[in-house]
Amino acid sequence: MWQPQPGWHPLPSGTSPSTVGVWRAVVGEEPVAVKRLAAPGEHDPPELSDPDHFAYWRRGADVVTSGVLAHSQGLRPPVRSYAVEDVEGITITEDWVEDACNNGLFAAHALGRFAGTPVPDVPWLARDQLRDRLRRTERRGGWPTLARTTVADVAEHLWHRRSTFLDRLDALPQVLQHGDPTPGNLPGREGDDVVAIDWSCLGTGPVGGDLGYYLLSAREEFDPLLEAYLMGVPEEVADREQVSLGARVVAVYAALSRAEWALSRVAKGEGALAGKFRHPAVAPHLRALQRQFPLVEQLLEA
Ligand SMILES: Nc1ncnc2c1ncn2[C@@H]1O[C@H](COP(=O)(O)OP(=O)(O)O)[C@@H](O)[C@H]1O
Ligand SMILES: [Mg+2]
Repeated sequence: MWQPQPGWHPLPSGTSPSTVGVWRAVVGEEPVAVKRLAAPGEHDPPELSDPDHFAYWRRGADVVTSGVLAHSQGLRPPVRSYAVEDVEGITITEDWVEDACNNGLFAAHALGRFAGTPVPDVPWLARDQLRDRLRRTERRGGWPTLARTTVADVAEHLWHRRSTFLDRLDALPQVLQHGDPTPGNLPGREGDDVVAIDWSCLGTGPVGGDLGYYLLSAREEFDPLLEAYLMGVPEEVADREQVSLGARVVAVYAALSRAEWALSRVAKGEGALAGKFRHPAVAPHLRALQRQFPLVEQLLEA
């Protein structure tokens, strides 16, 4: 069985079902990050084996071995990386990326430039990420916990209109996107580019989509981030209206979904729901949602 080596330092890693763990280690004299991916078993959800799905288990390794990002603009992967596969999974080893304290405007500009990178011709790019996420939500019964909060009316309205908004996203220019552009996944800097990690959701999506996801954990407000992204997007790719619509729809639906997910996990315990809004597992998601309220209102009018 695959095992991390003694002396590797475990790092906090997220919720991806295929990630066994992430470690900081040293190879030769150089600091590296090691990420272990588990191959899906027969009882795992089929989406882990679906090359179009954002949860496709081995995309992070395919990005490394294919070299598709060798000439990307705006975002680039760590310079040196390699992947080693065995029967149980894949181990990715890559340069350690030092934290360059990138601010949101720099990151948004880089995301815009990345959207101008030609889409590589490979069969494993994630497609339809937001639609697949909302489908998952649908299987779990929509947003029932939000229905018990002060955002109930808004949530219900947007839930019912989701296919209209997804169709509007489909009508926008489809561009290359990182797919999970949180500040934690955009740590490094090399000239004008951000050195990004965690490429497991690389794919295509509506222009502005990466900006919408980024917005949820950004410190900066929407308007300046939009301006920065627009300065990065090549003119022939998309205009202001298109970027703005893509970012707003993605941000609003992602914010509502995350708030539902966080609230539903604490809602099952004893006590009134309203008393749980300050729970540390919930409060940041509700704050992110509150911050998006001007965007929610614009969508309701649209
Ligand atoms: N190449 C790297 N350089 C620096 N830190 C890294 C690197 N790879 C991973 N990390 C650290 O490990 C954490 C988890 O790795 P990540 O690939 O983002 O996995 P997850 O899918 O769990 O988000 C990152 O948020 C980051 O702090
Ligand atoms: Mg990550």
